Amino acid sequence: MERFRERVVLVTGAAQGIGFSIAERFAAEGAHVALADIREAELARAERSLTGRGFSAAGYPLDVSVPEQVDQTVAAVVGKHGAIHILANNAGIAWEEPFVDIGDDRWRKMIDVNLNGMFYVAQRVARHMKARGGGVIINMASTNGLAGEAKYAHYNASKGAVVLLTKTMAIELGAGGIRVNAVCPGYIQTPMSEAIDDPAFVARYIDAHIPLGRVGQPSDISGIFAFLASDDAAFVHGACIVADGGQLA
Ligand code: NAI
Repeated sequence: MERFRERVVLVTGAAQGIGFSIAERFAAEGAHVALADIREAELARAERSLTGRGFSAAGYPLDVSVPEQVDQTVAAVVGKHGAIHILANNAGIAWEEPFVDIGDDRWRKMIDVNLNGMFYVAQRVARHMKARGGGVIINMASTNGLAGEAKYAHYNASKGAVVLLTKTMAIELGAGGIRVNAVCPGYIQTPMSEAIDDPAFVARYIDAHIPLGRVGQPSDISGIFAFLASDDAAFVHGACIVADGGQLA
């Protein structure tokens, strides 16, 4: 299937985890993929992994929390490929910390990347899409944006804000032909989640919280991004697609 042939997809946080899986999925379906990430060595490895398989991909070093860098990256991708048709606005960070212990600097860091960074990238790409007459934007939220979890006040707040940012973007941008949705994954096995939790915790967590009896894999999420970017989702707009193995049920 080559649903995304001649489509240019910008994926942030593309060096590993869910972002890399999203990039792989779009590349495998014929798209040119612009990979953006703050970690240059991992980004170069991700780029090599895709181009080595004959896919069309290029890496762009980017800290999404720095607006000037976002401006430059969007301009560079549009300059090179003529357009950005699809944005997978995925970059994010997470760590656990009790509410009363969160320092102002760490609060700001979480909001700066997970919310401000998402805004900078979405807004700059939306301006470009509006000028060219349309596109698809998919923001990475989380089940933590829909229900709270202890020790994640800063993360929960950032993802809750992404859900309402997405809905507001959908209301404002739909008339310009830009479809906007969010994805809300539950527990997905990635370097991010592996850095936080040990295997014994994960086994107890699955038992207590996930009716499907397993954690998710990045491919459980990248397929949803591909669906939302496709014509099959032509009437899906302002939605938050939950993929959590039944946890929120
Ligand atoms: P990850 O840590 O494995 O990958 C995140 C990527 O984002 C990394 O390559 C990292 O270098 C990059 N990144 C971090 N800060 C950046 C910045 N300032 N600018 C550009 N790139 C930056 O994480 P994972 O698990 O793949 O998460 C991806 C997204 O999915 C995040 O937004 C996360 O909050 C969200 N998510 C993850 C879940 C999980 O269980 N793993 C569940 C729900 C949502």
